[in-house]
Amino acid sequence: MSEHQRPSGAAPRLNTGVAHNARVWNYWIGGRDNYEVDQQVGDQVAGMFPVIRDVARADREFLGRAVRFLVGECGVRQFLDVGTGLPTFDNTHEIAQRIAPDSRIVYVDNDPVVLAHARSLLTSAPEGATDYIDADVHDPETVVRGAADTLDLKQPVAVMMLGILNFVLDMDRAQEIARTLMSAVPSGSYLVLTHPTTDADLGGQGNVEAMRFWNDNATPPITARTREEISTFLDGLEILPPGLVSCAQWRPDSDSAVTVPQFGVVAVKP
Ligand SMILES: C[S@@+](CC[C@H](N)C(=O)[O-])C[C@H]1O[C@@H](n2cnc3c(N)ncnc32)[C@H](O)[C@@H]1O
Repeated sequence: MSEHQRPSGAAPRLNTGVAHNARVWNYWIGGRDNYEVDQQVGDQVAGMFPVIRDVARADREFLGRAVRFLVGECGVRQFLDVGTGLPTFDNTHEIAQRIAPDSRIVYVDNDPVVLAHARSLLTSAPEGATDYIDADVHDPETVVRGAADTLDLKQPVAVMMLGILNFVLDMDRAQEIARTLMSAVPSGSYLVLTHPTTDADLGGQGNVEAMRFWNDNATPPITARTREEISTFLDGLEILPPGLVSCAQWRPDSDSAVTVPQFGVVAVKP
């Protein structure tokens, strides 16, 4: 694992008494790496906002389609996956290396349980490489320094920020983080983003109450954003078709894709 990690002593201690996002997300997508408190809060949120399980599954399926598109159709061989989540049945390196075994992937998360399971993310094909950085996205410079150990930052990189900028509550800070990461990678690099919304055309009104409940009962605190706000993370980039859409509607595998209140987009740095 990279040595560019949180300074020792600064890591949040594992708290099994409070629901954590990585573990609740794992619960919603059907994983087993979660505790009773995560299941309780997960069920309560799903009770007031039933579409949340569809959101989590649609987000993971978007990840799969976006990685296959980038590797298969755009020739991308490097990924920086920020806010990785707990390892699941199909992680970014497995999807990418199935098509191009020489793909190199750096994972970043700050959750101690994700760190504890990081070994399952370090199972690279011998032709490629994977690394895991225990870092906070609020410190993008550390993320970039750590990524440079494994990725060639002079070659295109797909920066994956799926369900992560929603944990950067301050809008200016979130924009600055996206800008810092994208300015560390060259022309021909990609930004892949998903983000929850309260926009009514995506059926997101229920996020208001659900996120209020989350912020009172779980960690880290979360925020939703409008289409216009999320668009600002893409400033200076070229948005690829079909644009900034419900992530379930982004190049769907079937005509029957639902609409979930989670935007998804892929954009390229000119
Ligand atoms: C909603 S999950 C998304 C997981 C995965 N990207 C996906 O789309 O399925 C968000 C992840 O971001 C991580 N996270 C939240 N705040 C973070 C921060 N400040 N720095 C790094 N990771 C963070 C959480 O631990 C969690 O694993």
